[in-house]
Amino acid sequence: MPTPAVHAPRHAPRVRLGCDVHPVAELAESVDLFGERYLARVFTPLEREQCEGPAQLDRLAGRFAAKEAVVKVLELPPTAAVPWHDIEVRTGRNGVPFVVLAGQAAQLALAQGIERIDVSLSHDAGIAMAVAAAMPVVEPAGGATEDEGA
Ligand SMILES: CC(C)(COP(=O)(O)OP(=O)(O)OC[C@H]1O[C@@H](n2cnc3c(N)ncnc32)[C@H](O)[C@@H]1OP(=O)(O)O)[C@@H](O)C(=O)NCCC(=O)NCCS
Repeated sequence: MPTPAVHAPRHAPRVRLGCDVHPVAELAESVDLFGERYLARVFTPLEREQCEGPAQLDRLAGRFAAKEAVVKVLELPPTAAVPWHDIEVRTGRNGVPFVVLAGQAAQLALAQGIERIDVSLSHDAGIAMAVAAAMPVVEPAGGATEDEGA
């Protein structure tokens, strides 16, 4: 069945998506090779604490994929990079993950009119994946503030 020709309003805020997959074995190899140095560089203390347990590597690989998915929605220039710790994936109530930006990543989001970035993670059969959605700041209707409109 064809998709109905219904379009979002012209000025609807644009949600940007990014996705990434990361093999758990790749993360395990980095941990084997570089150990604590790798873990401390890529993951924040809170991320490491929240991933403790039997599925630790799968869950860290999910957060690695989430960080890369967030980098995609931030639309970095080709040679630019942000520190890994600037993108923290936290586990919220009921296990729902959310992203907290800091430093350069927060600055980029602000400059691009991104209010927050939502993420969804999955890990199965040795692969972790993540999708990130950049939610734009929503302007008041008509684009004018109350003061401007008065
Ligand atoms: C939440 C649920 C769907 C996770 O599915 P899963 O196949 O076990 O696990 P996945 O590997 O795909 O995803 C795991 C990730 O989902 C995220 N997650 C966990 N609970 C979540 C929730 N309630 N909402 C959104 N994301 C959640 C986490 O980021 C988790 O990874 P993490 O532990 O490393 O942070 C499942 O555990 C669940 O609660 N099911 C409820 C039963 C149900 O309704 N089934 C569907 C019937 S259609």
